Amino acid sequence: MIKLNGTKKINIAVFISGKGSNLENLIKCSKDRKSKFKISLVISNNSKALGLKLTRKFNIKKKIINFNNSKLIEKNLLKVFEKKHINIICLAGFMKILSKSFIKKFDGRILNIHPSLLPKYKGLNTHLRAIQNNEQYSGCTVHFVNSKIDSGKIILQKRVKIFKKDTAKSLAARVLIQEHALYPRALNKVINDL
Ligand code: GAR
Repeated sequence: MIKLNGTKKINIAVFISGKGSNLENLIKCSKDRKSKFKISLVISNNSKALGLKLTRKFNIKKKIINFNNSKLIEKNLLKVFEKKHINIICLAGFMKILSKSFIKKFDGRILNIHPSLLPKYKGLNTHLRAIQNNEQYSGCTVHFVNSKIDSGKIILQKRVKIFKKDTAKSLAARVLIQEHALYPRALNKVINDL
């Protein structure tokens, strides 16, 4: 169990693999005077992830980690988290699967954002599949991470209408705007329930 650090702000580690727009949005929300969280660490499995540039811009510690040797790596990560008093992990476009033992250590405190209305369209290419299936709505979900992919308890969801002219790209762009509204709300909800 990772202990709360006695300060008012909850320390968050954000895991990314790519662009990092959700990370940027969470960082900006954390700067709000009333925010209860601070982004204290960014973890990426991809040294070329664009989102890593944000760590320099906002002066946040980062770690680039090769998750392929996952057991050992994750064990070391847990030590880092304990040292830095990390309370909650937010996966934000993180495309690796965490081990069961790691998830167990952080049970109930790992959140993920997924670009679909779970339990529909787990996994990849969510928008394309929703369009191909003639769905009326796509959307996004923030959920707790458990040992099954995109299957943990749902915290919040937002629907986004699919239009006839939509492509996976146009739909993804509209859903991403809603992701930015949803993730901080879901995170605050979890913090309030701690
Ligand atoms: C987001 O749309 C997020 O929902 C998705 O990756 C994108 C990352 O964008 N996550 C997944 O597909 C996880 N299965 P970002 O790097 O700009 O935040």
